[in-house]
Amino acid sequence: MVMPIIMSIKPKRALRRIKRARVSGAALLLMLLAPLLNANQPAIIDYTDRFHPVVSESGMVVSQEALASRIGADILAQGGNAIDAAVATGFALAVTLPQAGNIGGGGFMMIYLAGEKRTLAVDYREMAPLAAHRDLFLGDDGEVDKNKARYSRYSAGVPGTVAGLLHALNSYGTMSLQDVLKPAIKLADQGIRVTRSLSFSFARAEQRLKKSPASTAYYFLKDGSPLPEGHLWKQSDLANTLKKIANTNGEDFYQGSIAKKIVAQMQEHGGLISAEDLAAYKVVEREAVTGSYRGYEIAAMPPPSSGGVHLVQMLNILEGWDLKASGHNSADYLHRLIESMRRAYADRSEYLGDPDFNPVPVAELTDKSYAKKLRDGINLQRATASSAVKPGLTLPEESPQTTHFSVWDKHGNVVSNTYTLNFSYGSGIAVAGAGFLLNNEMDDFSAKLGVPNAYGLVGGAANAIEPRKRPLSSMTPVIVFKEGNPVLTTGSPGGSSIINTVLQTILNVVDFDMNIAEAAAQPRIHHQWLPDQVFYEEDINVDTRKRLEAMGHVLKSSSRVIGRTQTISRDERFIYGANDTRWPGGAAAGL
Ligand code: DON
Repeated sequence: MVMPIIMSIKPKRALRRIKRARVSGAALLLMLLAPLLNANQPAIIDYTDRFHPVVSESGMVVSQEALASRIGADILAQGGNAIDAAVATGFALAVTLPQAGNIGGGGFMMIYLAGEKRTLAVDYREMAPLAAHRDLFLGDDGEVDKNKARYSRYSAGVPGTVAGLLHALNSYGTMSLQDVLKPAIKLADQGIRVTRSLSFSFARAEQRLKKSPASTAYYFLKDGSPLPEGHLWKQSDLANTLKKIANTNGEDFYQGSIAKKIVAQMQEHGGLISAEDLAAYKVVEREAVTGSYRGYEIAAMPPPSSGGVHLVQMLNILEGWDLKASGHNSADYLHRLIESMRRAYADRSEYLGDPDFNPVPVAELTDKSYAKKLRDGINLQRATASSAVKPGLTLPEESPQTTHFSVWDKHGNVVSNTYTLNFSYGSGIAVAGAGFLLNNEMDDFSAKLGVPNAYGLVGGAANAIEPRKRPLSSMTPVIVFKEGNPVLTTGSPGGSSIINTVLQTILNVVDFDMNIAEAAAQPRIHHQWLPDQVFYEEDINVDTRKRLEAMGHVLKSSSRVIGRTQTISRDERFIYGANDTRWPGGAAAGL
């Protein structure tokens, strides 16, 4: 049951409020006493805050789609743990959020096991097929063939989602695969009502989806129009695929009839994924990247994600300044952020890639003394120009989609999962007869050294295409601890801006004392070294923008919102959930 938010007043705010409000004597007494009454409880919720999280005593699931969040919460209510709920939510999103929820993509799951006090990272990122090679996406002219990299059967890496979710469930869950898959199968079989935003999103992706006959059949009416709002959308092929996964513990996907369908698709239309590739797909458990920030401990996704490394690196740089004194989203604060982002993303382009192929200098990049060196090089009055800027690079107009969900159970187990098809609907190509879309994650590799990918990210040899390699990612599922106990988890979609979105969410909570719903709702900025531009959300104050320009920054309004977080926090008594409202349809579902 969702609990009412307790009245909890931060002392300084109580005084401020007394000054400006007319309050009765009894209320005044209560307001003054409240901090003392709640002395043992961190005062996370304040009724004067503009945004409020959902509150629960016994469990929380936050995802970008309400039905999927509810399914996860129901699994917790049945006695499942956070891992059971996460796997159920992950499969449900594959049905209800086809843009990003998936079984044809890949991702990362951070898990905290309360019983063992252990954090681990499950890497189920897609792998390049065996036949892939460094110049796969270069045309005869030696230039990158963007269409081949992003919208063809060559765009797809070997999917890892099914193996990843099953690995998590089999290793750390408590329920059977049949039970956690049941709700997703039911939704696919019986149908869901198409929401306005889903119908809009089909229409937006129409051109791309219609290149694939299977996608056309799955996401459009017979007359060719996108499935309309209110339409009862049944996905029988997907339901059958999910049933086969349930009945064979995933084997059918990697070695059986579903694998055959994927391979047939490749053979018919040109594409590299073979039966051997699918059979050889491997989930890897990795150690989290760790760091500390103002008394909190951070555990985040290690390579092949760049997220954890650069999150910790930027926090290390920023720790040397009193950010609160600058004021939230002030020019002085944002300048420090931008300069930290610029340096971290420059390192990303050079050093980061799949650690199974090239060693990544994680310890060096996350070292506090390296951060001090970088901080000391930052001019606090002027923007530093990004070196070797190539003109004309911009973030894509393409609507990208990845999706994050967070789960917290009553035992204190935590799951932070980000998974993706890369773009919205991935390559746009569905596997005929199997009901799901293939990713276009191969574009996350550096198709040509120094040439930007869809997110404007440039990369080097460390992220060149090689058989069986995993493309570098920015996905940043993270768990934040205080004195060894988890206090917050978050993550976001947003391509290259994910790391900066997660960074700003943590700063909003730790430095600016915001509750997680407030922290999610603040306008954000993004800088990634190249292009040398600060992308900003329009709500960043005009005066602040002018000051930043006067300091030498080049500002560009973001063509889209910057990230969308799904956050859970916990204090001694309650669990709080907040879904970022930048995207419609998500929900925090508490028990
Ligand atoms: O792994 C990555 O970094 C990208 N493929 C993520 C794509 C993404 O976040 C698109 N979403 N909004």
